[in-house]
Amino acid sequence: MKIAITGKGGVGKTTFAAMISRLFAEEGYSVLGVDADPDANLALALGFPKELIDEIVPISEMKSLVAERTASTPGSFGTMFKMNPKVSDIPERYCKEYNGVKVLTMGTVDTGGSGCVCPEHVLLKTLTSHLILGNKDVIVMDMEAGIEHLGRGTAKNVDAFIVVVEPGERSLQTYRKVKKLAEDIGVKKILVVGNKIRDRKDESFILNHIEEDECLGFIHYNPNIVDSDRSNLSPYDVNHQIKEEVKNISNKLKGVI
Ligand SMILES: Nc1ncnc2c1ncn2[C@@H]1O[C@H](COP(=O)(O)OP(=O)(O)O)[C@@H](O)[C@H]1O
Ligand SMILES: [Mg+2]
Repeated sequence: MKIAITGKGGVGKTTFAAMISRLFAEEGYSVLGVDADPDANLALALGFPKELIDEIVPISEMKSLVAERTASTPGSFGTMFKMNPKVSDIPERYCKEYNGVKVLTMGTVDTGGSGCVCPEHVLLKTLTSHLILGNKDVIVMDMEAGIEHLGRGTAKNVDAFIVVVEPGERSLQTYRKVKKLAEDIGVKKILVVGNKIRDRKDESFILNHIEEDECLGFIHYNPNIVDSDRSNLSPYDVNHQIKEEVKNISNKLKGVI
C-alpha cells in the first residue's frame, strides 16, 4: 500500500503520517515513511532521537548517488540522463529506522520552474513509484503543504491521497484544490481525515463539505498531541484515545484500498 498525506499547512499531516506509520509497524507491516516536505519533521514526530535525526541525509543531498543511478553529471540540467534509475536497494541502504519505521527524507529539490525533470527529482519519483511492495509493505509519504507538489507529480503513483482537513473553510478549500489536481494526474483515490475535531458540529461541518464515501474518520483535538510536540515525543505514544482513533481510520483505509 502506498499513501500520500496531503492538505493545508498546519492541519496535522505530519502528526497523522507519523501515527499511522507507527500503527502499521506495530501491526507487523514493514513501513517506509517518506518525508517529502523540504521542511522535514516526520522523523521527529515518529519519536526518532535527535542524534539519529542528525544522521539522516536527504536524498537530494546524495549527489553522487543521484549521479550514479541516473548516469548524470551532478548539477546538470537539460542534459540526457536515465529516466529509470535503479532504486530497489535504496530503502535498505539509506534509511534510518526507529520504532519499526524506516525514514527517507527527500530534501529540497530545485524545481527549476518547468515541471522539474532534474535527475534528483527523477530518482525521488522513481523511488516512490517503482518500489515493489509485498502485501505487508507500506509506504507513507508526508507531503509538503498545499498543492505545488501536484504539479511535479511527486506522489502520482500512490494508491490513495489522504487529505487531512480541520473543521474550517480554509483547509476544505485546499482539499478541493488537491482533489481536482490529483484527479488530473490520475490518482485513483482521494480520502479525507478530519483532524482537531471538538464536537459533532465539527464532524458534520466536514461531512457536509466532502463526498460521503471519502471520509476515513476523525481525530479529536487532543491537548496530549500538543504536549507531545512540546516535549519532543511521538504523538502516538502519549494517549490511548489517539491510538484508537488512528486504528479505526486505518481499518477503514484497508477496506477501501
Ligand atoms: N488532533 C490534534 N490535536 C491537537 N493538536 C494537534 C492535532 N493534530 C496536530 N496538532 C498540532 O498541530 C500542529 C501542526 O501539526 P503538523 O502535524 O505539524 O501539521 P502539518 O504537517 O500539516 O503542517 C502541531 O503543533 C501539532 O502538535
Ligand atoms: Mg508537516
